[in-house]
Formats: sequence, structure tokens, C-alpha cells
Amino acid sequence: MQIIRQKKALDEALAAFRSEGHRVALVPTMGALHDGHMALIEEGKLRAQRVVASIFVNPKQFGANEDLSGYPRREMKDAEMLRAAGCALLWAPAVEEMYPEGFDTNISVGGVSADLDGASRPGHFDGVATVVTKLFNQIRPDVALFGEKDFQQLAVIRRMVTDLDIGIEIVGVPTQRDVDGLALSSRNAYLDDAERLAARAMPRALGEAAAAIAAGHDVGEAIERARATLARAGFDPIDYVELRDAETLAPVDRVERPARLLAAARIGAARLIDNLAIAPA
Ligand code: PAJ
Repeated sequence: MQIIRQKKALDEALAAFRSEGHRVALVPTMGALHDGHMALIEEGKLRAQRVVASIFVNPKQFGANEDLSGYPRREMKDAEMLRAAGCALLWAPAVEEMYPEGFDTNISVGGVSADLDGASRPGHFDGVATVVTKLFNQIRPDVALFGEKDFQQLAVIRRMVTDLDIGIEIVGVPTQRDVDGLALSSRNAYLDDAERLAARAMPRALGEAAAAIAAGHDVGEAIERARATLARAGFDPIDYVELRDAETLAPVDRVERPARLLAAARIGAARLIDNLAIAPA
């Protein structure tokens, strides 16, 4: 596996893939890789002969009071995991390579990035859309893979790819979970043992609410119970627990089309997000 940090070397490596006639899949990440990321790599291998992973902790998607400086970084271990999985190339540019002096462009996607995490983390999705556009232009993959774990991010990227005629196939990969149900996340590393146990309330609260809603119970009551479950476990603040249309992310109060139950809440030093699908009856 090649590890590349300069755009010029990247262009040369990609030209070699193309001249061999290979399809290219891109898996963008911020590193501290776990089995959730690796599921994207595996899906990429099914869809292209060459899988490119990127590791770039993108300053533009972190708010002023967020965890940019403390975000887990362990590129040696990540590179070894990617190599063992059969990834062909790791693109790991420095911040100055991605955002050279004078960089002054922002990609902002509309309604779908406005609320939920967009409200809790102002500017976050502009930062994501801007860096993902750059990664798309740098790599020009045939297909790019994103996790359903970050469901709103996936919706923002789909909207952007459609609106800007980007012409890259976007594939969503189901959320990978630990044995106790907690969604795998680089940020789980911030939890101590007691918090890690308490965090199980997140998938439990969502699972119970999703089952109640799917069974036709009142959506507002199911969401209130989920919020109470999270609060009892020590989540504070609870940023949101919301039922949304799975495509537009518009609020819904009954499930007539595919819907998604989404939640975000803080426990200890970690802000956790999770979501579940609810199909119409
Ligand atoms: P990061 O949080 O590292 O996640 C990289 C990709 O892995 C995202 O598409 C995310 O949805 C996916 N992922 C994370 N945990 C997962 C899980 N448990 N199951 C399935 N997929 C999972 O998301 C980002 O980085 C950044 O915002 C990025 C898109 C790279 C732009 O900077």
C-alpha cells in the first residue's frame, strides 16, 4: 500500500491505476480506524479494483470548542489496518497541503444540513462538504463510501453530489456496532469504563422507540421515553431525539415513507450520535 501526502505524487499513482483500467473507490476518514471504517473498505473492494482511503482530521468541520486538538491520531496503526485489508493507497495530506495559504472557498449545502447536527454544530457540514468536495476532485473516484452512522452527513453528501453534478456513485454502509449495541466510533475512546457501560442506553433508547413507533404507538411519547432513558443513564445534554424522513430529513410525525430516528447526546467527554431506520408498515 502506498502512503502519499503530496498532490503531485497522488496524481501519478492514480494515473497508474487508471491506465490499468481499474475502477477506484474512495473511503474518506479522519483516522483512528475501527471496524466501522473497515466495513467501508470491504464494501469498496466489492465495487472497485482499487480502494483509496484518506485520513485527514479536517479542521474546518470542528467548532471552536470541539475536540480538534484531542481527536485521536494513530496513523501507523491505521496504515497497518488498511494495508492488511487490501487498500491500495492511503492519502494522508498535511493541513497545509489541503488548505494552502489563501484558501478561501466554502461549500454550503442547504436545508438538509440546517438542523440536527447542523444546529448543534454550526458550520460543521460546510466543513464536511468542503473537504469531501476537495477529496472527490483530488481522487476522482468512481464510487465513494460513507457510513449510515453519520446519517445526516450521508444525506448532505448525496444532496451535494446531485446538485453539483459530481457524477460519483455514493454508497451508504450500515452502522457497525459493538457486541452490546453501541455504534463503533473513534470518539468512544473518550469514555471511561463506567461511561462506556452507561452509553449502551443510546442504542437501547433508540431501539425501544423505533420498535414502539413501528408498532404504531405515538411518536411524541416514544421520543419522550427515549429522552428519559438517555437522561437516566447520564447523557447530558441531549441535543436531539427526532423522527425524520429518511431522504429529506424533514420532520415527520408518522411513518408513511422510510423514516429515520436520530439522536445526539453527550456523555462524559464524548458527544455520541446514532440512528435507526423505521420502515412504513
Ligand atoms: P470519520 O468519523 O472518520 O468517519 C469516516 C467514515 O466512516 C464516515 O463515512 C462514517 O460514517 C463511517 N463510520 C464511522 N463509524 C461507523 C460505524 N460504526 N459503522 C459504519 N460506518 C461508520 O465522517 C468523517 O470521518 C468525516 O466527516 C469525513 C467524511 C472523513 C470528512 O472529513
